[in-house]
Amino acid sequence: MVLNTPMNHPIPVDHLRGKDLTARLNLRDIPKVLLHEHLDGGLRPATVIELAAEQGYAGLPTTDPEALADWFHRGAQRGNLPEYLEGFQHTTGVMQTADALERVAFEFIEDMAEDGVAYAEVRFAPVFHTSGGLTQDEVVQAVVNGLRRGEKSFGVRWGLIICAMRHLKDSLEAAELAIRCRDLGVVGFDLAGGEDGFPPKKHVEAFQAIERANFYITIHAGEAYGPESIWQALQYCGAHRLGHATRLRDDIEILPDGTMKLGRLAQYILDRRVPLEMCLISNLHTGACASLEEHPFGMFFQRGFRVCLNTDDRLMSDTTMTKETTLATELFDLSLADLEKLTLNAMKSAFAPFDERIKLIYQTIKPGFAKAHASLM
Ligand code: ADE
Ligand code: ZN
Repeated sequence: MVLNTPMNHPIPVDHLRGKDLTARLNLRDIPKVLLHEHLDGGLRPATVIELAAEQGYAGLPTTDPEALADWFHRGAQRGNLPEYLEGFQHTTGVMQTADALERVAFEFIEDMAEDGVAYAEVRFAPVFHTSGGLTQDEVVQAVVNGLRRGEKSFGVRWGLIICAMRHLKDSLEAAELAIRCRDLGVVGFDLAGGEDGFPPKKHVEAFQAIERANFYITIHAGEAYGPESIWQALQYCGAHRLGHATRLRDDIEILPDGTMKLGRLAQYILDRRVPLEMCLISNLHTGACASLEEHPFGMFFQRGFRVCLNTDDRLMSDTTMTKETTLATELFDLSLADLEKLTLNAMKSAFAPFDERIKLIYQTIKPGFAKAHASLM
């Protein structure tokens, strides 16, 4: 299959890469799969302001949506994770009633549809949403109600992940909550929050409870700490996927001839096909990478690691799946076939049941990429 360039040199569609690809195709229109996004990191600025007024939350610095968005973005770009996380006190501050949680979850699904996302897993820590008097079970139910209403309206499939927080001592309770809410649409369990000083193995009891329930584990690891944190997440806590894993690059040596020499941990992750939920823009903001050009995503993908692209926190990091995908395509010179591979990596790694993953792959993702391919000819 070839297309004609302005100079009439035929270029096979599969050779269209990077900026040549994004100039021809709006990546909003290819099917995308999002596995790593925080519910409390992706609110619409106008919604934050309206919810604050409804709930009498007085902590916002401004009531102008654009100024508020800008304030969140500036706060998140200070080059370290602890300061990146400071903005969340305001988003969780306005998510303290069932109606507010339901609305935020509904809007999340609407935003996913707008962004061309076919399947999304969204995560949050229920423990931060009880100061208005809700129990954690009621908090989860309200979020599920919003996700279900969103799915009915916009057709986006979803899974919910319950986060425990690394700095808190109640991770076992969070794990038990996740297991209890499984039939509502909770698909897994995560450990989030500041990484440095909070090793995952401190929460091993919670992860063992999840394993005993034949349930699923993803852990933020290798974002603000090195390979030791990734190793603990895998070998103490049984993680099935890793959030970020950016610092896995510290276990890879680039030899003078440009080939990669993998350490034992990197080799294990490659061989076992451990999915890496990578988040480019958020990593730049938290200082996990010094620049986007130096982000290890490109080298991990090239070497065959099971990587996928994610947003992490759309509000805080001013991003979308379309933006992350476009950025990765242009920075790492990806083709449409590469983007399909990344999307399949994500869908195969989702915590949704196998039958649902297969259905999405064959009924949505493959036809969507075939259509995109045809549109380029
Ligand atoms: N919660 C929200 N965003 C996070 C991140 N990037 N790392 C850890 N916890 C988070
Ligand atoms: Zn995250």
